[in-house]
Amino acid sequence: MKVTVVGTGYVGLVTAVGLAKLGNEVIGVDKDTSKIDMLEKGKLPIYEPGLNELFLSVVEEDKLDFYTDIGAAVRNSDIIFICVGTPSLDDGTADLSQVEEVARTVSENLDGYKLIVEKSTVPVNTARWIKRTIELYNKGKRVDFDVASNPEFLREGKAVYDFFHPDRIVIGVDSERAENILLELYAPVNAKILVTDIPTAELIKHASNSFLAMKISFINMISDLCDKTGADVKMVADGMGLDSRIGRAFLDAGLGYGGSCFPKDTRALFRIGEEYHLDFELLKVVDRINLKRIEKFIDKLKDALWVLKDKVVAVWGLSFKPDTDDIREAPSIKIIKELLKEDAYLRLYDPKAMENMKRLFPPDERVEYVDDMYSAVDGAHALLVVAEWGEFKDADLSRVASLMRTPVVVDGRNIFEPGEMAKYGIFYYGMGRGKSV
Ligand code: UDX
Repeated sequence: MKVTVVGTGYVGLVTAVGLAKLGNEVIGVDKDTSKIDMLEKGKLPIYEPGLNELFLSVVEEDKLDFYTDIGAAVRNSDIIFICVGTPSLDDGTADLSQVEEVARTVSENLDGYKLIVEKSTVPVNTARWIKRTIELYNKGKRVDFDVASNPEFLREGKAVYDFFHPDRIVIGVDSERAENILLELYAPVNAKILVTDIPTAELIKHASNSFLAMKISFINMISDLCDKTGADVKMVADGMGLDSRIGRAFLDAGLGYGGSCFPKDTRALFRIGEEYHLDFELLKVVDRINLKRIEKFIDKLKDALWVLKDKVVAVWGLSFKPDTDDIREAPSIKIIKELLKEDAYLRLYDPKAMENMKRLFPPDERVEYVDDMYSAVDGAHALLVVAEWGEFKDADLSRVASLMRTPVVVDGRNIFEPGEMAKYGIFYYGMGRGKSV
């Protein structure tokens, strides 16, 4: 099939490359010409494990092309996937201006039947607005198109795997024609396909992400009690997770959730509940518990060092989670801000996200970026583990302890075992795992 994917970000690019790999002819479009320039030169504007090889192979097979002219792309396609950003506005509602802009452009280029597919995470009933916009800008002229919802469930760092091995594919449609097109498109993917009406599909996405965020805030609430009572939150989570109705996944206590999805989706869903005058306070509490992680984490550092002024603090992990270069809503951002307020010296290391972080915190006399995890701790008064990249878990702790000025580790992702740390003379603070000092 001939497909246009609008938006070449973390979702759009994986979708475009994945659909091309399934044998479709795909055009990726983005109004950010610098991204399109990079892609046309065979370079990815993002880091996503496994994406580069796949991207190069589909470009080689001439299955994937890039345009900046979205109108031309639409006229050359049967299916248009909307994969643009839907960031939070100040009040938490989703900013749908990029979605509306795509709908307007599509309406001006309807030279025959098109299927417009929402893949971006959007509030329930956004499809109705897309449909109305296309009709409105065609001045009520009878035009032949359908709108469908096909939410993405791609985890950053595992997005390529998730595209080809999803737990489920959700298709929200209101015509048989749209249903048949999407069933044919996804036929090569061996996964459960759930066909629903459009609002249901839109809501499945917001509800799923908000539920996962709630699970994380729940275990973080419990970890605060573990800190007070000496219980071990990892074991509590293991005990809970053995109940098949609960499941162990997404019960890892720590610095909480970041990224471009959970924070925005929980806030957006809360605002949608408010608009219908429903009590969605639960989601407000989920957000509040999550935001509190940073304060709890800094308090542990203060408990260890007393005074932070002029102390050298090493930070391992700047991305919002491992295996991505994405720093959107990363806990590291708030932590760096807090430490700079306290006049500390920062030694920052991340395997992939440093270039993105330098745009927010350029190197200066108090902010230094280093090339490896051991340089970060050399002469440091404390080490903060903020994103749990695999290499940190394998760190040589005796080397870390000997390099540090004072051997203090505040482990925001519980990657180390408290019992182990005393062996190296390390003053260790976990999240919900007590402290071994
Ligand atoms: C999420 C959803 O998983 C995915 O289905 C959706 O399409 C997009 O949003 P993503 O945000 O990429 O994916 O990462 P995910 O692995 O879900 O983690 C989200 C955040 O929760 C990260 O900041 C992670 O550090 C945090 N997290 C995750 C926890 O704090 N504890 C956990 O147990 C799991």
